[in-house]
Amino acid sequence: MAMSFDYGANSDSDKSCGDISFDDEGKLVSGEFNDFYFSPQGGLDESRHVFLGGNNLPQRFSGLFECQHGEGGRSRGEFVIAEAGFGTGRNFLTTMQLWDSVLSLKKAELKSESEHGKTCAGEEISQPTLIYHSFELYPLEASVMEKIYPHWPDLSEYAGEFLSAYKQKKTGKHDLCFNLEKYSIKLMLWFGDIRDNLDKLPGRVDAWYLDGFAPDRNPLMWSDLVFDTIKSRAVPTTTAATYSCARAVRENFARIGFQAEKTEGFGNKRHMLQAVNSCSLC
Ligand SMILES: C[S@@+](CC[C@H](N)C(=O)[O-])C[C@H]1O[C@@H](n2cnc3c(N)ncnc32)[C@H](O)[C@@H]1O
Repeated sequence: MAMSFDYGANSDSDKSCGDISFDDEGKLVSGEFNDFYFSPQGGLDESRHVFLGGNNLPQRFSGLFECQHGEGGRSRGEFVIAEAGFGTGRNFLTTMQLWDSVLSLKKAELKSESEHGKTCAGEEISQPTLIYHSFELYPLEASVMEKIYPHWPDLSEYAGEFLSAYKQKKTGKHDLCFNLEKYSIKLMLWFGDIRDNLDKLPGRVDAWYLDGFAPDRNPLMWSDLVFDTIKSRAVPTTTAATYSCARAVRENFARIGFQAEKTEGFGNKRHMLQAVNSCSLC
């Protein structure tokens, strides 16, 4: 039986945050979609495996500091991620941690190289920015996040930064921009139904996280419109990752010209999908 989780905003008069609770196994469950956000036991590793690893982000973030132009070039100032389903911000926080650790390491390496006269001739070393767009229909109250984040002590620095920006914001159907300058990260939260906001997504997207509950429980998050947007915002190196290997998802990737491959899943999910723009394979 589900344990009720008192976070204030889920009264009968205010359903803007959706119907969420922890079940007996400690899973955060959505009543609306009859599906869980993630398991607290494997939540962060699952996020790192499926979404960060699935989009090859450790290598791609490092590559932003390589001595050539293009995705890996220093002239390339931004890396853009788009996520279907912000939820608790788990994927955002693991991404923020990875970004911070790669940038710190690379900056230290470059400083040491420049001290030893080994920098790439004629190239400016500029700090790249991470732009993270996320779509969310039921934004959680900060008070809910405050109860979840202590389960993730190694993310406490990032969770604290995020919450201090998030606390002052109200939920509603609008976009919010957080400038986490210390980390060179811009977070754009698009609150409302993803279908109403996708066309406002500016510019290209380098990597997609498709995390909108299971397709059979929430088909709207896997609609043709989502895949059409992946295609219209794609560059040759764009990738996408998801835990779902449903046939409809694979067919939609094929339709937009992405090659989707089943790879090793996380925990008790045997497979996940990693998709790359077929242009990158030409
Ligand atoms: C599996 S959870 C996302 C987990 C999240 N990425 C995290 O790190 O915690 C799926 C999310 O999709 C949101 N969602 C469901 N339908 C939506 C829609 N039509 N538009 C935008 N968000 C939606 C849900 O409210 C939920 O927060």
